[in-house]
Amino acid sequence: MRALPATANIARVVERTLSIIKPEVVARNQIGAILQHVEQTGLRIVATRMLQLDRRQAEGFYDVHRERPFFQSLVQFMTSGPVVVSVLEGDDAIARYRKLMGATDPEQADAGTLRKLFGTNVEHNAVHGSDAPDTARTEVAYFFGEADLVPR
Ligand code: CMP
Repeated sequence: MRALPATANIARVVERTLSIIKPEVVARNQIGAILQHVEQTGLRIVATRMLQLDRRQAEGFYDVHRERPFFQSLVQFMTSGPVVVSVLEGDDAIARYRKLMGATDPEQADAGTLRKLFGTNVEHNAVHGSDAPDTARTEVAYFFGEADLVPR
């Protein structure tokens, strides 16, 4: 196999990822603070909206966790008040947003990450972000149609 020259252009992939700002952050009037971090990272918000999830929507969104012991509590929390869902776009958006969020449990999250700064515990962890391209596509489509997205 031929080695790539040191200057070879490694193609960067423009991705979209779904972000949810969770109810406790909305209740504390910190939506703007989270979105400011997102924009400062260089990710572009190409759609955003506030909504009150009902039980069926929250259960459907977190279906992969249905058998986990925390499922009912998570659904209860995610329906306890409005959330803000956004689609973020940029090179490697999925990994970059996950890095910005930090570990699921705010106690384990690095300093300066959203979950360290705004999260309280592993359930009340401020934000959600898609974990892989397939999940991102499904999660974006859960809340937004193609016509809702304004790439720029
Ligand atoms: P999120 O990124 O929204 O994806 C699934 C969510 O389940 C996660 O963030 C946490 O809010 C929640 N979660 C994960 N593990 C636990 C746990 N051990 N106890 C309670 N909630 C959890």
